[in-house]
Amino acid sequence: MNDIEAYVSRLLGTDPDLERAMEGIREADMPEVSVAPGYGRLLTILAMAAGARDALEIGALGGVSAICIARGLAPGGALISLELKPEYAAIARSHVEAAGLGDRVRFMVGDALESLGKLEGEGRRFDFVFIDADKGRYPDYLEWSIRLARPGALIVADNTLLRGRVAEPGTPGPSVAAVRAFNERLTGDPRLVATLLPGYDGLAVAFVKEV
Ligand SMILES: C[S@@+](CC[C@H](N)C(=O)[O-])C[C@H]1O[C@@H](n2cnc3c(N)ncnc32)[C@H](O)[C@@H]1O
Repeated sequence: MNDIEAYVSRLLGTDPDLERAMEGIREADMPEVSVAPGYGRLLTILAMAAGARDALEIGALGGVSAICIARGLAPGGALISLELKPEYAAIARSHVEAAGLGDRVRFMVGDALESLGKLEGEGRRFDFVFIDADKGRYPDYLEWSIRLARPGALIVADNTLLRGRVAEPGTPGPSVAAVRAFNERLTGDPRLVATLLPGYDGLAVAFVKEV
């Protein structure tokens, strides 16, 4: 965390539910790559602004972002969170339950592309989508998110600037190439109004237009 991020984090104050989840992630030796505190709060605000009743998350890890999204859901709303690793999904579920949000979040274990296909088969549609899984498939996740989004939905994605590596000249590795492709498609897609916020690791926010 740099000085500015630490400053914002201090202003936001302590959050026992998120701190419990972060502690659980450390204890379980999971990667410490949960959404930053300032962006967690932004996820809550954006879910509220979208009036989200049906939310989707791609990449749960230990449930930090799931807690933030679930907090912003409209009354009666629910979040479906997709996670590859069953042990991560179990830990995320325990953190979401400890935060008192267990009745609002359902975890789907397995490869996200397969889960997305199942959700489409069930006729599910979403008014808030958060993309935060394997970077190499961000372009696919964007296409799926648009396909499963209702008009007026928000699509949000983390790590879209890869600490500036997307803007560095030279031949990129596969993750950088995929995230660059994601950013180009997101900002150029006529179905979206989109931008990239250059704080933390870069957050993309897109509004899905009526088509
Ligand atoms: C950056 S972490 C998610 C962090 C979480 N959104 C948060 O901020 O609290 C990425 C997660 O995506 C999961 N993941 C990676 N590849 C996946 C795939 N193909 N399908 C589903 N989940 C995947 C990883 O296991 C990991 O838990």
